[in-house]
Amino acid sequence: MKFDIPLARPDLSGNEESYALEALRSGWIGHGDFIARFEREYAEMCGTRAAIACANGTVALHLALVALKVGLGDEVIVPSFTYVASANAIRYCGAEPVFVDVDEATWCLDPTRIEAAITSRTKGILVVHLFGHPADMDPINHLASLYGLWVVEDAAEAALATYKGRPVGGLSTVGSFSFHVNKVFTSGEGGALTLNDPKVEGYIRMICSHGMDPRRRFFFPVVGYNYRLTNIAAGLLCAQLERRNVFLDRRRAIISLYEQLLRGVPGLEFRPVAPWAVTSPWMFSLIVDQAQFGCTRDRLMAHLATHRIDSRPFFIPVHTLPVYRDGARMRNLQLPVTERLCAHGVNLPTFTTMTDAEVERVAECIHGIRK
Ligand SMILES: Cc1ncc(COP(=O)(O)O)c(C=O)c1O
Repeated sequence: MKFDIPLARPDLSGNEESYALEALRSGWIGHGDFIARFEREYAEMCGTRAAIACANGTVALHLALVALKVGLGDEVIVPSFTYVASANAIRYCGAEPVFVDVDEATWCLDPTRIEAAITSRTKGILVVHLFGHPADMDPINHLASLYGLWVVEDAAEAALATYKGRPVGGLSTVGSFSFHVNKVFTSGEGGALTLNDPKVEGYIRMICSHGMDPRRRFFFPVVGYNYRLTNIAAGLLCAQLERRNVFLDRRRAIISLYEQLLRGVPGLEFRPVAPWAVTSPWMFSLIVDQAQFGCTRDRLMAHLATHRIDSRPFFIPVHTLPVYRDGARMRNLQLPVTERLCAHGVNLPTFTTMTDAEVERVAECIHGIRK
């Protein structure tokens, strides 16, 4: 179905076209200068020593886990309330995701539930800064250092969010980002890793590019991948980053307009924001309480669709998906917070070029179903 108001729409009205054209006209459509520029600027934004561009957020996670030597039989702690790619990247390494519930106050990994999931096979914690909100990193990093684990941040949805004043991506061993078309910054497909350790950086750069030894051309000491980003995509990202404040301000204004128009509606719950968090304004989220609101989340979404407004349900908990549920059953896994949020949550259209009138139309439609 074609929607009048889609869930997301990229804003390419800055220098995107001219940078893409510059890459095309120069012939540097594979490797090129935009990649180094993007990496420099992104590292600076995240407060890390380095950033590495790559093809998408899924391979960014895979590269991080391979560099951290995750292998067959290892376990990695991860929330079930996430996009499936977080768990899949663990499986690519032959390791098992061990799902832990999220905190009601952040919708991210609950630090108080992690310790019980640690075993002798646990290698690390894959934190997800879900829907733009940072996870509570201090207690997670503390536990990790106590048990000798690494921490990776899946910040795919959380570009420029901050935790106690520090940007995500620089709060752990490695940060991972996505520039998929529905993200705050996009190049259609794209990803990045942020990190401080030069040894890990060197290894990731090597395996991102077939595993070629940087000192010896066409010598491959390890099995690598081709997970590189193109210069055209990096050009788009450079243009997007130039307008980062415009993007953030407009998205924040959209989210506060939604809140203003929907505050006080019985049965609608907004996303909580911890006092130490500045969120990345990704997609506006609501939890629908059927008893109080008068209809289910799914009926609300169907109602929006009949008014040509797109929306999307929260993720199906990863531990309940066919490829992961046997392991979860074996552990008799109960994740009540994840299950409640995922069953009742919905994301609403949020994009830079969305007008106030469009936000008002979505809100009116939501009010309309209660009449
Ligand atoms: C939390 C999370 N992790 C990983 C990914 C994967 O990123 P990509 O789609 O760029 O592969 C996404 C979504 O796109 C995501 O939302």
